[in-house]
Amino acid sequence: MCGIVAYIGSSNALPVLLDGLRRLEYRGYDSAGVALLQSGRIDVRKAVGRIANLAEEIEKNPVSGQIGISHTRWATHGAVTRENAHPHSDRSGRLHLVHNGVIENYQTLREQLIERGHEFHSQTDTEVLAHLVGEAFEQSATQDKGSLVEAVRSALRQVIGTYGISVVHADVPGVIVGARRGSPLVLGIGKDEHFLASDVSAIVAHTRDVVYLNDYEIVALQAEGFEISTVSGGGAGFQISRVEFDASSVDKGKYPHYMLKEIHEQPNTVRDAMRGRLSLEEATAKLGGLNMTNSELRAVDRIVLAGCGTAFHSAMTGEYIIESLSHIPVECEFASEFRYRNIPLQRDTLAFVISQSGETADTLAALRESQRKGHRTLGICNNVASTIARESDGGVYMHAGPEIGVAATKSFTSQLTIFTLLGLLLGRIRHLSHSEGRDMIAQMEKLPDLVARTIELESQVAAIAKKYAQAKNFLFMGRQAHYPIALEGALKLKEISYISASGYPSAELKHGVIALITEDTPSLFIAPRDAVFEKNISNIEEVKARKGPVIAIGTEGDTALKKICDDVILIPDAPHYLSPILSVIPLQLLAYYIAVELGCDVDKPRNLAKSVTVE
Ligand code: F6R
Repeated sequence: MCGIVAYIGSSNALPVLLDGLRRLEYRGYDSAGVALLQSGRIDVRKAVGRIANLAEEIEKNPVSGQIGISHTRWATHGAVTRENAHPHSDRSGRLHLVHNGVIENYQTLREQLIERGHEFHSQTDTEVLAHLVGEAFEQSATQDKGSLVEAVRSALRQVIGTYGISVVHADVPGVIVGARRGSPLVLGIGKDEHFLASDVSAIVAHTRDVVYLNDYEIVALQAEGFEISTVSGGGAGFQISRVEFDASSVDKGKYPHYMLKEIHEQPNTVRDAMRGRLSLEEATAKLGGLNMTNSELRAVDRIVLAGCGTAFHSAMTGEYIIESLSHIPVECEFASEFRYRNIPLQRDTLAFVISQSGETADTLAALRESQRKGHRTLGICNNVASTIARESDGGVYMHAGPEIGVAATKSFTSQLTIFTLLGLLLGRIRHLSHSEGRDMIAQMEKLPDLVARTIELESQVAAIAKKYAQAKNFLFMGRQAHYPIALEGALKLKEISYISASGYPSAELKHGVIALITEDTPSLFIAPRDAVFEKNISNIEEVKARKGPVIAIGTEGDTALKKICDDVILIPDAPHYLSPILSVIPLQLLAYYIAVELGCDVDKPRNLAKSVTVE
């Protein structure tokens, strides 16, 4: 949520900043701004809306410099206006600051600053921080790098909340100061140039050597070096990491949208989620990152899965998959509710938090709450350098590569693949026989091909999308593990096409939802050939009897659905623990093509941002 890019070196900072902001636009796109330092003065340009608007503004009113900070905003405090766009400055107008996060005590601090004669020009919490740093700097005896770092430290000690910040001051021209608490910040190391960004994707085109800052760390960047210290005043060690992916992984390639690219990546991403984790010899899955012995895993008598949004839907699907394979009771919790609900967790409960970004504030809070209660808490994350990945007691990486489209797709199927691996591992420790384990592995090895075959249904799904794109309301129905897939299909449609959509267990229809059925309300049934196929058919008949149009997702070779449904999409046959990975793909494509048909901005839906780092 919100993106920061900063540059200091000998090149023109502007293209680095604008290119970085474009790559971070998925984190927020309400407004954007830059502050560039040259010849002892700082020039600021801001625009409401996308980075393209900022670029246009700069074209009309050029700026340049070799030191600069920049920001793309997802509004929290204050409306989407030019005044509220970052960077914000202090009362001297010589200090500029960009911020990602929320300053919770900003009202109190603002009132105190006003009493001390400060004037504010925005409704943001960030401006308070700029004034606090500026005031501390004014009061320092010297005007050098050390005093700017000290001023940032003094301001941060007064704030309650989360921040990833980047600060420049015209009086200290060779330095950018950054700091983080709760909002990610990564330092990029180049040759006589350094970068700061909320996410490596913004800087990977320039350097792959990075340092992921920890909470409460402050970094002072210069062209030729950097120093890291802590908010409390001590020094801090650091580790240089090499980014595994290159700039092409964060490009759209031949696809018009990231979402479509990421849907198409799924044969590879499910393969990567399994890579090196299946042992035919032992007929089980190997998940070394869990950091648990088989006897510790054997003692687990309950599992809790927590996540938000799509990750919560994957947890719900995981509940079916893990319970059926391991016979261990599984419960799902919205991560956003977890810490407030105070659920009783028994001693041998194993908790997992699921997060693509590894930065979702609610999910991080769930992790910390579970750990505070003394529970081993594991993470299922995609972003290897994320806070959740670093703070959890172990876990499983998705290895899905960067997911940029705001609507999660490939991370969802990677999460389901990991739940199947977990089910296999836990099941083999308990009741699954060696030959059952080997059968499962044989089935899982076919998964990438089955996913690829499902994606080949694209043109058929696109035609169906065109037919139903004008519907004002959509219903999604499924049973058992396909019920959360119905929820996920509805979420995908809502978030990128703004069509009202909801998901239900098919049988719940007659308990109320059926009142919504009209000739203009399409119902999508996920009805593969499984133990509840006939039950789904009865529910479809109930809709057809009321003249509701029905789209069905069935299994290849099925003929029954075609007789009663308006449109049928047939996916490859797969065992129950893999079938949801396939059935969600037509729903991702359907949402995508409906949004395209309606002219919506697929990768940047309104009001949304990827990586929700505020509560
Ligand atoms: C929906 C979507 C969101 C995220 C949710 C959690 O398409 O992307 O619902 O799934 O914000 O994000 P992560 O997985 O990063 O914790």
